[in-house]
Amino acid sequence: MTKPIIIAIDGYSSCGKSTIAKALAKRLNYAYVDTGAMYRAVSLYILRAQLDWKNLSEEELDQTLDQIHISFHFNEESQSSDTYLNGENIEEEIRGKQVSESVSEISQLKTIRKRMVSLQQEAGLNKKMVMDGRDIGTKVFPNAELKLFMTADPKIRAKRRYDELKANGKELNLEEIENNLEKRDYNDTHREENPLRKATDAIKLDNSYMNQEEQLSWVLQLVEDKLV
Ligand code: DC
Repeated sequence: MTKPIIIAIDGYSSCGKSTIAKALAKRLNYAYVDTGAMYRAVSLYILRAQLDWKNLSEEELDQTLDQIHISFHFNEESQSSDTYLNGENIEEEIRGKQVSESVSEISQLKTIRKRMVSLQQEAGLNKKMVMDGRDIGTKVFPNAELKLFMTADPKIRAKRRYDELKANGKELNLEEIENNLEKRDYNDTHREENPLRKATDAIKLDNSYMNQEEQLSWVLQLVEDKLV
């Protein structure tokens, strides 16, 4: 493996983007950035501070963003990266209901997107990066060497999310999850600023009926093609 590349993974909520991204990063010895976690961290900060975010000026939002430092640290126990907000491990809290319900609205704010995109571009300067989100192949890294666009049947996605939450001891109503996913899909694809779109040169991966190993070997083949 010689040429370092950027792998941009975009797609709908709960499509398994981060699962494949983590597995790829591990296999290739690349860094991985979960950009959804960054928007979730910003949302958590705003919710905790009870800011009237819909009515903040650009300047006030910028000042708020100056107070937010997001980092990722490897967790030996879970064998994956945890998200930190100003030094506090917030991995569990940002996956909860409160943040999940507001993140797709908060992440529509132009000032927030602008700041996150520039942090993400900085993180990918040295390539050897797998990044997942909604606008990675279209906005953050329009020249990424490999772009994937992931999708899956909405009912299957909701069931996967339900199983995942249940495995973590959280019992949520399946219908509630379906509604939340539907709302997030709508917000993500209809927002003004960098909406979720398949980049014209992205390769579509519908994983409704694929297991993780199948997806990984399919993507690794694509990576190999890019590296030769
Ligand atoms: O990937 P996720 O479900 O954790 O992302 C949470 C929210 O953040 C999602 O509803 C949309 C937003 N998001 C975004 O707008 N742009 C990204 N690059 C990543 C996430």
